[in-house]
Amino acid sequence: MIVSPSLLSADFAHLADDIEMLNASEAQWIHLDIMDGVFVPNISFGFPVIKSIQGLARKVLDAHLMIVDPIKYVDRVRDCGAQIMTVHYEACEDINATIKAIKQAGMKAGVSIKPATPLDVLDGLLNDIDLVLIMSVNPGFGGQKFMPESIERVLALKSMIKDAGADVIIEVDGGVNETTGAQLAQAGADALVAGSYVFAAPSPEQAIITLKNL
Ligand code: DX5
Ligand code: ZN
Repeated sequence: MIVSPSLLSADFAHLADDIEMLNASEAQWIHLDIMDGVFVPNISFGFPVIKSIQGLARKVLDAHLMIVDPIKYVDRVRDCGAQIMTVHYEACEDINATIKAIKQAGMKAGVSIKPATPLDVLDGLLNDIDLVLIMSVNPGFGGQKFMPESIERVLALKSMIKDAGADVIIEVDGGVNETTGAQLAQAGADALVAGSYVFAAPSPEQAIITLKNL
C-alpha cells in the first residue's frame, strides 16, 4: 500500500520537524492539500509554502488541487516539485486539456471526484490518466468522518479500470484510519491519504507502518 500522509494535519509552526519525521518514515508520498476558498470552503497554503516544503521533503510530492481552473497553475505546481498533480473533475472547464497540460509539464496526472460525483464522469479518461483520487469526505477539511459508500465506489472503479484495460492508481482521501483503510485495501485501493490519523497518533511513524501493511 502506498501511504500519503496529508500535511494539512501537520503543525504548521513546526513544519520542518513534521517533514523530517515523514522523510524518516516508511511513507512513500507526501500529500499536499491546496485550497482556494472557492472550490472548497477553506484555504490551506500556497506556492511559497510548497516551495519551502520542496526544499526539505525527500518523498514524492502528491499535490491535491482543490481550486477552480487548476490548468492555470500547472507550471507553478511543477516548479514547486510536485511529481503528481491531481485536479478535481468538478473544478475544470476542460478536463482533457488539463490532463494534457499536467502530462506535458512532466507530472503524473490525477483526477479527483467528490463523494456526490458519479464515477461515470471518469469514462473515457481512464486511459489518459495515472491516478484517480476518490474523496471519501467532502473536500475542505481534515478530521471528517469516512463515508462508507466509498468502499463500493472503489470496487466499481476497480472494475471500470479493468474493463478499460487501463493502468490507474486508485487513491482514497478522507477519514482514513486502520479500520477504514483495511476496508479500502480489501476493495482494491492502491494508495491511502491520511491526515489526522497519522498526525494525531501517539507514534505517527507507527501509524504509517500500520497503513502500509494493510
Ligand atoms: C480534505 C483533504 C484531505 C485531508 C484528509 O479535503 O483532501 O487530504 O487532509 O484528512 P483526514 O485524513 O484527517 O480525513
Ligand atoms: Zn487531499
